[in-house]
Amino acid sequence: MPEQKRTLLVTSALPYANGSIHLGHLVEYIQTDIWVRFQKMQGHDCTYVCADDAHGTPIMLRAQQEGIEPEALIERMNAEHQADFAAFHIEFDNYYSTHSDENREFAELIYTRLRDGGHIDRRTISQYYDPEKELFLPDRFIKGTCPKCGAEDQYGDNCEVCGATYDANELKNPRSVLSGATPVEKESEHFFFRLSDFADMLGEYLATSTQKEVANKMNEWLEAGLQDWDISRDAPYFGFEIPDAPGKFFYVWLDAPMGYMASFKDLCNKKGLDFDDWWKPDSSAELYHFIGKDILRFHTLFWPAVLEGSGFRKPTRVFAHGFLTVNGQKMSKSRGTFINARTWLDHLDPEYLRYYYATKLSSGIDDIDLNLDDFIARINSDLVGKYVNIASRTANFIVKQFNGELLPVADFEPDIQRRQTYMDGVLGTKQVINELYEARDYGQAIRKIMEYADSINQYFDENEPWKLAKDPAQKDRLHSICSRILHGFHALSVFLSPVLPEMTARVAKSLFDKESPFTWSDLDEQAFPSRLNKFKHLAKRIEPDAVNAMLEASRESIAVNEKPQASGPLVDEPIADIIQFDDFAKLDLRIVKIVKAETVEKADKLLQLTLDLGGETRNVFAGIKSAYAPADLEGKLTVMVANLAPRKMRFGISEGMVLAAGPGGKDLFILEPHQGAQPGMKVK
Ligand code: 2FM
Ligand code: ZN
Repeated sequence: MPEQKRTLLVTSALPYANGSIHLGHLVEYIQTDIWVRFQKMQGHDCTYVCADDAHGTPIMLRAQQEGIEPEALIERMNAEHQADFAAFHIEFDNYYSTHSDENREFAELIYTRLRDGGHIDRRTISQYYDPEKELFLPDRFIKGTCPKCGAEDQYGDNCEVCGATYDANELKNPRSVLSGATPVEKESEHFFFRLSDFADMLGEYLATSTQKEVANKMNEWLEAGLQDWDISRDAPYFGFEIPDAPGKFFYVWLDAPMGYMASFKDLCNKKGLDFDDWWKPDSSAELYHFIGKDILRFHTLFWPAVLEGSGFRKPTRVFAHGFLTVNGQKMSKSRGTFINARTWLDHLDPEYLRYYYATKLSSGIDDIDLNLDDFIARINSDLVGKYVNIASRTANFIVKQFNGELLPVADFEPDIQRRQTYMDGVLGTKQVINELYEARDYGQAIRKIMEYADSINQYFDENEPWKLAKDPAQKDRLHSICSRILHGFHALSVFLSPVLPEMTARVAKSLFDKESPFTWSDLDEQAFPSRLNKFKHLAKRIEPDAVNAMLEASRESIAVNEKPQASGPLVDEPIADIIQFDDFAKLDLRIVKIVKAETVEKADKLLQLTLDLGGETRNVFAGIKSAYAPADLEGKLTVMVANLAPRKMRFGISEGMVLAAGPGGKDLFILEPHQGAQPGMKVK
């Protein structure tokens, strides 16, 4: 039991229900899960909840695109998300959905309280409307020419070329991303939350409730003056209808954070807990939200104000983290570094990612970089070379020569003074590591842990147990030395448990016969086990091939699975990397004839094409199976990139690329040049 038992409720941001979990998302879930496991290991009452963020226009449109109801889409995505999280050992106490009865009740209750407290205004505003699709367009669904720098093809809220932010109606030549139609301005009544009613409260709140950099940012917002927040959207919209306003829906960002409450409420229902004990204004429970720095405004301004205005407690702290880069750059589909959780799992151990992220994470909001060479080196050196190595080279001396019996600390350090110093060292290290975990300074915690591993390995090398094992006169010494080394390994396993829950649970069970995972009290002197089993394989080195195969598979899965769609804020990739004209001019585009088209065994999306370039034949895999039957293609002319370097794919080598475009599914169209064109002709 900890000296003072705390009650904590912890959340990670709710992932949108229209996309798969990728490595960028995982920074946050891994960061949170480590913290939660650390709290639980100390004996605190810590609950970790999350849910899918299931509402909004992109989800509604994605369902339409797939020809299914939004409910079916969000159910499928929820199952997919939960499976991915579980595979990365992210252990929620409850995982739910914002499209739930509980969340509807919170949305209605909170809205009604805000309205009755005078914090909701109604105003008529004018917005862009897609006359073909018959819906109001969110900014990300409008594109046009940047009003500041003239760059074409920019979104309705900001320009990716010059960085300007603007209102959608300032965009020149606007068009709807959905239909291509020119949007028209249309008026409608919207509901606004009067954020400025809470300016004083927020001014006080920011001082204690988040990191310094974040508080500075909040200060800027407060000084600039708080704008009212538009919390309604017009039909058609997938969300909750506003109770006193038929045809109007709560904006997804209003009910999303309420999903934290709804998920917790669902848990309360299952476990018979009293929800109010956690959420009443004077609750002694602590409430922590882990989020990405892109959604700070929602969590540090709107959310505390909404909670305050509706009679609930506010978060104790909001912990923001930075974005992920891979090899120093934004995750990129073309480089294969836009890696989905599932693709990682197909090639690499999830705990290796947990460990690497831990080495990089701090309490700040700087971006973190997954450098894949460094990743390989780090895992091989730290986990395999330092941590596992200790047990793999020591355990069998104990098993073979001492029938598995470990000496207690009092026996391998019989001198009281020395024993005291030794245990002070272990517990002192524990104290430092504890503080670093608590402060989310995992990078520092891992450095400390690895220093400890270094000291144990050094002790092993200095005492040369392999030599002692050959000398019967040194048997007692060998027993003491190996017991002490394994005591160190045991402590290391406890220290690493929040980061490597699965590997350390295997250590607990298979090496030390311990049924339950380690807790912090396993570091007490008396808790050291008296026996040890034969060492079983724990971790294997990473071969660069596995990483390369993952990158390749990522390129493939993106090429064949992803349809262009408006991205949520966590997907930080622009439409494509900008290239210069000279790069474009390097493309050798040729007319080709599709002489053969075949399906590919075990590939859902690919067709294998044999292309005639006017004498030369090429083999190309194209992700167009959803749109074309092989027979429809044979004999057709199309255009290919003929000088693309051959790519090794799982099914063979692809020697170029045919050009196709469209939103995906059935709507994918290969370029069909005029029949007068001849295979081999260069496209000008
Ligand atoms: O940015 C996002 O991905 C949102 N779905 C996060 C929501 S967090 C919470 F407020 F619900
Ligand atoms: Zn611009």
